Amino acid sequence: MARHLITSALPYINGIKHLGNMVGSMLPADVYSRYLRQRGHDVLYICATDEHGTPAELAAKEAGLPVADFCAAAHDQQKAIYDGFELSFDHFGRSSSPQNREITQEIARELHANGFIEERSVRQVYSNADERFLPDRYIVGTCPHCGYDKARGDQCENCTRVLDPTDLIDARSAISGSADLEVRETKHLFLLQAKLTGEVEAWIAAHGDEWPVLASSIARKWLTEGLQDRAITRDLEWGVPVPADVWPELAAEGKVFYVWFDAPIEYIGATKEWSDAAQPGETRDWKSWWYQADGVRYTEFMAKDNVPFHTVMFPATILGSRQPWKMVDYVKAFNWLTYYGGKFSTSQKRGIFTDTALELLPADYWRYFLMANAPESDDSSFSWELFAANVNKDLAGVLGNFVNRVLTFSRKRFGDEVPAGAEAGEAEARLGAQIAELLAEYEGQLDALNFRKAVQALRALWSAGNAYLDEKAPWTQVKTDPEAAALTLRTAMNLIHLYAVLSEPFIPAASRAMRGAFALPADESTWYTPEQAASLSLVTAGTPFTVPPVLFAKITDEDLEGYRTRFGGDPDAV
Ligand code: 2FM
Ligand code: ZN
Repeated sequence: MARHLITSALPYINGIKHLGNMVGSMLPADVYSRYLRQRGHDVLYICATDEHGTPAELAAKEAGLPVADFCAAAHDQQKAIYDGFELSFDHFGRSSSPQNREITQEIARELHANGFIEERSVRQVYSNADERFLPDRYIVGTCPHCGYDKARGDQCENCTRVLDPTDLIDARSAISGSADLEVRETKHLFLLQAKLTGEVEAWIAAHGDEWPVLASSIARKWLTEGLQDRAITRDLEWGVPVPADVWPELAAEGKVFYVWFDAPIEYIGATKEWSDAAQPGETRDWKSWWYQADGVRYTEFMAKDNVPFHTVMFPATILGSRQPWKMVDYVKAFNWLTYYGGKFSTSQKRGIFTDTALELLPADYWRYFLMANAPESDDSSFSWELFAANVNKDLAGVLGNFVNRVLTFSRKRFGDEVPAGAEAGEAEARLGAQIAELLAEYEGQLDALNFRKAVQALRALWSAGNAYLDEKAPWTQVKTDPEAAALTLRTAMNLIHLYAVLSEPFIPAASRAMRGAFALPADESTWYTPEQAASLSLVTAGTPFTVPPVLFAKITDEDLEGYRTRFGGDPDAV
C-alpha cells in the first residue's frame, strides 16, 4: 500500500466552470483517486477554490457584493456542483483560508531569508479614471505575440503566454474601459527566479522524463526561454497580505501577494484545513503528506495553460524556501476540450456549464463521456451527436442493457436468487481468460493515467459480457436445457458484479446500483485481480438479487434536437 497525494488545479472562484474545466483537472483526478482507493492505497485528494486576485474582485464587483461575501457564496455554489458530480475530495478548501495565509507568509519569509525575494521599484499602469493601479486582469488589450485582442494583463488566453501588463497593445482598463492610463512608480516584491534557474533545470531533468510529453515539453520550453524574476505582490484589497514583520512599508500600503503565488501553496493550505477539521479521536496529519514526506507519491492534474506555474514557478518557490516540502512526482496535463471545435469560454458563456449539465442528466453520463473523450494526446471536441452516441451505444446499449436483460430474464425464469445450473465449461473458461486479459489492460492504463485507453478497456470488458450472452442465448437455451441457461445467467451475474466494482472510478452511481443488485457481505474486497475475475465465481448460486431500475436512459432524437436548439450546434451560433 502506497500513500498517494493527489491535487487538481484549483478552480477560480469567478463563476461556474464549464465541462472543459471539469475534464482537464478535477474529474480525472477523481477517477484516479477512486481507482487507487479501491486498490487499497492511502489516498488524499485535495482541491479548493482559487479565490484571490483580480478575477475574484472583478466578479464580486459585477455581482455587486463585497468580495469576501461573494467568494463565500461562490465557494458553496461550486462545492454543491462538485458534490453533484460525485467528486470524492478528501477536502475542498478555500485559498482565502487562514491556513493558506499563514503558510504563504511563512514561505515568503523563508524565501526572503534565503535571498530570493527583493523589493524593487517598478513602473506600473495607473488608471486616472479609476484612480488606482491596474494589476493583471484589470487591464486588457491586444497580445503582442499572437494579436488576440482580449488578452489579459497577466496571460494571453489564446496563446497561453504569460504577459506583463505593460506588454499589451491598445491597453484599457477592465473596470471602466478607459484608455486614459499612465505609468507610475510603485514598490513591489520580486521573486528572484533567475537565481533559481539552475536548480529548477536540475529538478526537471531528474523528474520530467517520467511525465507525459505534454507536461515535460511545456516545462522544458519554458526553461529555454529562461526564468525571469517576477513581481509577486499586487495592489489589491483581497489577498494574502505581505507580512508586516518583514516588509512594514509594503504591508502598510496594503500590498497583497499575487494570486499565482498563494494559489499553489493552497494545496498545502487546504491539507492543513483538512487536518484542522478532524473530528475528536480522528488523526489527520497534514505535515506527514507535505513535509519530509518521502514515502508519498504526489500527482497533479491540470490543463496545459497551468503547466508552467506547476512545473517551473511553484517548484522555484519551493526550492527557494530551502524547506523539505514535497514536490510533485507526476504532472498529468490535458489539452482543450472544444465545443464543436470552438472554444468553451467562461467569459463568453459559450459551451456547457457544469451546473446546467447536471440539470440535464445525471453525473455518470457526463463523467463517462468526458473521460472517454478526454483531451489527452490532442484537443477533443464536444458535440451533442457524439455525446448521444456514447451514451446510447456504450452506457445504455452495452452496459445498461446487459444488466437489465440478464437480471430481468433470470428473475422471470429462476426467481430471486442467482441460479445454480451446470458446471462452468469451455465457453466460461474462454470468457474468464478474456476478462482477465482485459482487466490487466484496464489496470495498466489506469496505472499509467491513460484515461481514454482505460475507458476503451472498460468498454471491452462490458462488450465481452454481451458477446458471451449473445453466443449462449439463454432465452433459447432455457427451452431445451434450463441447467445450461442457469449457468449462462449465473456467469453473466458474476460479470455484473465485476462491472460494478471495476466501473466505479468512472460511473460511481451506476456502480452502486449494480452492486446493490446482489445481497453480498459488505466487507467484500473493493477490487478484483485478473485471476479472481477470471474465476467468474464472485457471486455464488443462491445469492438473492433485485433488479435495479434502468441504469441509463437513451437520448432520443427529440432530446438531441432540443439540446441543439437550446445550446446551438456550432460554436458561432451560440
Ligand atoms: O487556471 C486556473 O483556473 C487557476 N485557478 C489554477 C490554479 S492551480 C493552483 F496552482 F492553485
Ligand atoms: Zn497571445
